[in-house]
Amino acid sequence: MITIALSKGRIFEETMPILNEAGIFCNEDPEKSRKLVLTTNSKDLQLIIVRASDVPTYVEWGGADLGIAGKDVLDEYQGIGLYQPLDLGIGKCKMMIAAEKTFDYQRSIKNKLKLRVATKYASATRKYFSQKGISINLIKLYGSMELAPIVGMSDIIVDLVSSGKTLQANNLVPIEEVGEISSKLIVNKASLKINRELIQPLIQKFSDAVSK
Ligand code: PRP
Repeated sequence: MITIALSKGRIFEETMPILNEAGIFCNEDPEKSRKLVLTTNSKDLQLIIVRASDVPTYVEWGGADLGIAGKDVLDEYQGIGLYQPLDLGIGKCKMMIAAEKTFDYQRSIKNKLKLRVATKYASATRKYFSQKGISINLIKLYGSMELAPIVGMSDIIVDLVSSGKTLQANNLVPIEEVGEISSKLIVNKASLKINRELIQPLIQKFSDAVSK
């Protein structure tokens, strides 16, 4: 049995067409079902539904053989047992620095003021600022980062921006791009060795589905 870990978050809508294109169909509507294990049209293949940030953990620890996870999640995950054979080109957005319109980011940098940065992307954020030689105070959050500058808790945030509507609705403006985000297929390295005859064709099907 091959297990694929998916999450019902941001990228779910774009994931199903790729699975279908690869010939994988759920036996029930995953949007409606509350089941965490979903059977498919193939008796050798099942899907599990986990939190987005848990997808790499399930794949690394063998709870799933494959998974679909955003680059944002993978960059935060410190595991070593993951093979990333394919960028699926879905869930595309940008990781951005944003702040209130009144905050003078360039001036703070110029004056070497220690920025207070609220984010759930701690690793990516630390890496970005350390590469630029900018020292920061990192405030770790788990969501709704937009609130931090509004209540005066941080100077800036590092968050994902897709349509820009969330920033706009909270009177924040994008300042600088930290990086481009998309979702990747990830594979447990040991599973790939043991079940190569099942997993390799699956990777190929995903690759064909993406390049269509
Ligand atoms: C992301 C991100 C923003 C929002 C941006 O949240 O954290 O809040 O999407 O999208 P927009 O630019 O189209 O408005 P997500 O929905 O992934 O949930 P999260 O709060 O759990 O991160």
